[in-house]
Amino acid sequence: MDPRWIPPHGPSIRPHDSPPSIPHSRPAPGPAPAEAAPAPPAPGVAIGPGAGSSPGAGHGPGADVASASSAARGRCGTCTWSCASPSRRRARRLRGRARWSCAARAGAAAELRLDAHPSLAVTAGQELPVESRPFASYGSALHIALPQPPRAGQLLTLLIDYEAGEGPGVCWLSPEQTAGKQKPYMYTQGQAVLNRSFFPCFDTPSVKFTYSATVKVPEGFTAVMSATSWEKQKDNTFVFKMSQPIPSYLIALVVGDIVSADVGPRSRVWAEPCLIEAAKKEYDGVIEEFLVVGEKLFGPYVWGRYDILFMPPSFPFGGMENPCLTFVTPCLLAGDRSLVDVIIHEISHSWFGNLVTNATWGEFWLNEGFTMYAQRRITTEVYGLPYTCLEAATGRALLRQHMDATGEDHPLNKLRVVIEPGINPDDTYNETPYEKGYCFVSYLAHLVGNQSKFDAFLQAYVNRFKFQSITADDTLGFFLEYFPELKEKGVDSIPGFEFDRWLNTPGWPPYLPDLSPGQQLMRPADELAELWAADSLNMEAIEAVDITGWRTYQLVYFLDQVLQKSPLPEGNLKRLSKMYPKISKAQNAELRLRWCQIILKNNLEAEYSKVKDFLHSQGKQKYTLPLYRAMWGGSEATRALAMETFSATAPQLHVNVQNYVKKILGLAAAEA
Ligand code: BES
Ligand code: ZN
Repeated sequence: MDPRWIPPHGPSIRPHDSPPSIPHSRPAPGPAPAEAAPAPPAPGVAIGPGAGSSPGAGHGPGADVASASSAARGRCGTCTWSCASPSRRRARRLRGRARWSCAARAGAAAELRLDAHPSLAVTAGQELPVESRPFASYGSALHIALPQPPRAGQLLTLLIDYEAGEGPGVCWLSPEQTAGKQKPYMYTQGQAVLNRSFFPCFDTPSVKFTYSATVKVPEGFTAVMSATSWEKQKDNTFVFKMSQPIPSYLIALVVGDIVSADVGPRSRVWAEPCLIEAAKKEYDGVIEEFLVVGEKLFGPYVWGRYDILFMPPSFPFGGMENPCLTFVTPCLLAGDRSLVDVIIHEISHSWFGNLVTNATWGEFWLNEGFTMYAQRRITTEVYGLPYTCLEAATGRALLRQHMDATGEDHPLNKLRVVIEPGINPDDTYNETPYEKGYCFVSYLAHLVGNQSKFDAFLQAYVNRFKFQSITADDTLGFFLEYFPELKEKGVDSIPGFEFDRWLNTPGWPPYLPDLSPGQQLMRPADELAELWAADSLNMEAIEAVDITGWRTYQLVYFLDQVLQKSPLPEGNLKRLSKMYPKISKAQNAELRLRWCQIILKNNLEAEYSKVKDFLHSQGKQKYTLPLYRAMWGGSEATRALAMETFSATAPQLHVNVQNYVKKILGLAAAEA
């Protein structure tokens, strides 16, 4: 392929000779654990029934109503992709060509559908009739008419030239929106359903494919992608290859003024030049240990490198597990490695999420609940049980806050969420898949009753379902198959703890793992919070507690307790603020979030500017939304603060976050 640019070309289909067979769309029933063997690789994305059938990737269990594509649940095809960024003709546009290779399924119709977005324009003359039809607020369907129905197994190659603009998946930042403030920056964020505005694709986690990409960028810029290999060629052209099959949401691209530094034998950090020193210092020599422990627990790390890219401040997540290249918020640069659990979380996705993937976004807990469990297994090995329990307690507090806010019976508080057609899966995001999911996996471990046996199960599970997309039925079926004695005992139907109840009934987790090993770290924080909540302060007792040596998560836990007890009696918070500059002047984002929440709940007007400053400094969704909710639920003064802050910061927020804030503030959110 011409690495520079390709003349405009209409979409075309080129029939090739058929590969011998079509993959099963669902994994075959699992072999007994002792003889677990890798599933055979499949030759291409299987194209499902087609015109006349209802939208959604595949049918029956695991059908993805959030995808308009005609791919049935299946394994890898390939996508070869090239783009020039920014487009020669116009800034903030990306000209691309996607070449899809797909194998047709028996009974496929003479039409192929891909996910796309109104912001994505198919360009050039047309060899085949292509029509963009409305699908949902978050995407459109590209209908491509084939000359005739393909034969079963026929390999189709589809070429699509297109231009992507300012869709929700492609973020264009001005120099002021970067840390260095010198050059523009662009990044993509695919999860959950945003990559359809980046390139036309089978935008469902139920389909995996390999890809290669050629990206030409202007002089002075570097391109990086979530790929197993990366090469810079002449003409500022970068060539990438992802040799393992992955779902569309894990494809990610950044073009910016970025540089890298080694931090381990298979890891480097990437960041804007002004942040690279801090990035290297934060993680030099620590990443490898997490990878090694992960491999010991869950099996081989199949992705080659594990690099970390520090994003501009408006990146909406703490971390995003793009394979080979985790994207993280620059808030992690706390100077003391205290927020490293986010990295351990994203590393854990290397097995749970990236290797074994939820087949639909309704099964998101399979990605996040297993990852929370894996994260805490790694932190237990590296930092010990007390620390891990302390961190898990802060997670439980987040789940409590979420369920208090929504009501326990809210339908989103089931592990298996029913996502109706038209509902944007990103709008269902909350703590339940993470922390209730963690509780369920902990419950499975509790049923097994032996940590090393459960660890062995997790490793067998990854091995059984690697490179596949699955549902909870696959997971739980394999669990019972792996532990036949538990199956015999009927552990899936113990009253009150039925697997079906875990999955399909909203509510507080029926089982909570024991976090008492964290008591030694939590108790002093609990006691101190009690003291500060008293009507008349016992300063002698308060002064006797020295928090200078407390770990960040101990302080976080303490602040969670103070928040829960807020508003504190008049005057207490002012004194607390004065007494602990380590908290009230903290630069650590987790501490700043809690301190801001406390300021708002106590109407500490003298410190409102801290809320504003924090919201100006970063745009992480999990920090931004709770603060706007708190401001909007507060006084007239905090409502005014919300409006003022939002009007100043809106342009720098990710479009999804912008829309969620608009909803909170009652400003009609334009459909993304
Ligand atoms: N994959 C998620 C981020 C995500 C979820 C992006 C859904 C888009 C849609 C990532 O692994 C994650 O969970 N990040 C957390 C880290 C935390 C749990 C340690 C975050 O961003 O806060
Ligand atoms: Zn995650």
